[in-house]
Amino acid sequence: MSHLIAPSILSGDFSNLKADVEMLNNSAADSIHVDIMDGVFVPNISFGFPILETIRKYTSKPLDVHLMIIEPERYIRRFQEAGADNLIVHFETCKHLHRTVQEIKECGMRASVAVNPHTSVSNLMDIIGGIDMVLVMSVNPGFGGQKFIEHTYKKLMQLRSLIGKENLSTMIGVDGGVDLNNARKLFEEGADILVAGSAIFKADNPVDTIQKLKNEGNFKD
Ligand code: DX5
Ligand code: ZN
Repeated sequence: MSHLIAPSILSGDFSNLKADVEMLNNSAADSIHVDIMDGVFVPNISFGFPILETIRKYTSKPLDVHLMIIEPERYIRRFQEAGADNLIVHFETCKHLHRTVQEIKECGMRASVAVNPHTSVSNLMDIIGGIDMVLVMSVNPGFGGQKFIEHTYKKLMQLRSLIGKENLSTMIGVDGGVDLNNARKLFEEGADILVAGSAIFKADNPVDTIQKLKNEGNFKD
């Protein structure tokens, strides 16, 4: 099992994006999580290609691009050109999820699928073997700084058993309300990658907090 940390730049300071990306470059962050919101699928609008391209310009860390947009299949190539390494689409937005996953891979990116709190992980049974990561939303997507939903632990257990039974290498991510109080338990219950926004960017020492979150993965299995 991996114990990776992906800081979410949504909670960063956009008046000084370069400084925040450089801070992440000098940290133990394994990748940078970039939240794209369209104001339709979720009740918030974040940013688009120019910001993603700017982040790409200042970092060589992998970019996990979380698409909270309807019809994400329309923009696959464009996100690859803007610098995405791992494209995360929502189960709830894809009519032809299998086709979308194939297209993401054909574009040379890793393909991941996010599930909202109300979506059962059993919906992923027929696609999980073909994707790189399942991203379990532990808040309703749209905003940083929300409260962690406890039911997430149950979903981690279900996913672990699904992945274990079929001997798959699909990773499990958790996104929303992750902090130093729940990181250890999330890793213990089967998360491979934790996304954290406000817990990192609102901390007095973000670099230190990233390291501490990562250290929470150092327990005996
Ligand atoms: C929520 C986003 C998250 C968000 C996490 O819709 O997908 O990635 O930035 O922020 P925190 O860690 O503050 O909940
Ligand atoms: Zn996200």
